[in-house]
Amino acid sequence: MTVAAVVTAAGSGSRLGASLPKALVRVHGRPLVAWAVDAVLGVADAVVVTAPSSHLDDFRAAVPRAIVVEGGAERQQSVALGLTALPAEASIVLIHDAARAFQPVAVMRTLVDAIEAGADGAVPVVPVVDTLVAAATEGVLGATVDRDGLRAVQTPQVFTVAAARAAHAMGAQASATDDAQLARAAGFRVLELPGDERGFKVTRPLDLALASAVAATLKESA
Ligand code: CTP
Ligand code: MG
Repeated sequence: MTVAAVVTAAGSGSRLGASLPKALVRVHGRPLVAWAVDAVLGVADAVVVTAPSSHLDDFRAAVPRAIVVEGGAERQQSVALGLTALPAEASIVLIHDAARAFQPVAVMRTLVDAIEAGADGAVPVVPVVDTLVAAATEGVLGATVDRDGLRAVQTPQVFTVAAARAAHAMGAQASATDDAQLARAAGFRVLELPGDERGFKVTRPLDLALASAVAATLKESA
């Protein structure tokens, strides 16, 4: 089956607070999006990157092997736009955040394998490390939630192209925080597989220090 990817990179990165869109911020000498695209090319034959309209040329220069398209106002819209730009022969799609640029290729491979074995969708998850509680009522700490029964969800989330397109078409009027939520709402069965702590999302400035340390362990392949 032909594997393609949508790498979402059209956000501004307001929590990071850089002067550039987050995906263009350099980590160990290369834009974050270049690290993400390199990793995805370990399993995908074609990669579509969603970029902010203000920086399309900068993204095309940063990821020359990707098809760069304009993203939307929200991540969900960016994914939907990316899905329309996939090559016609693609039958499996990884939907990945540029912000999770250091998710190991081995994790991506297990997710693709699950789809090739017949699943509609598969997502990487990691255990929750913090103790979780319900929000306080009038300042009084809420009840502890059993974290053993919870998972933190990462990307790439991998689907058959047909399932991803159907999920986004059906969910176009709804707002979901990830693609698996749309897929399940559309009736697809989505599997959980182990993620990796290197699949963390670069969100706030301190995350760049961790990203830089992880990047230093990788070889540049582009
Ligand atoms: N994204 C996108 N299109 C949007 C918003 C986000 O393609 N309209 C992408 C981001 O570029 C990022 C991924 O979705 O790779 C996950 O989003 P997030 O980490 O929230 O990035 P930003 O939205 O850029 O950051 P912030 O929420 O801090 O502004
Ligand atoms: Mg955001």
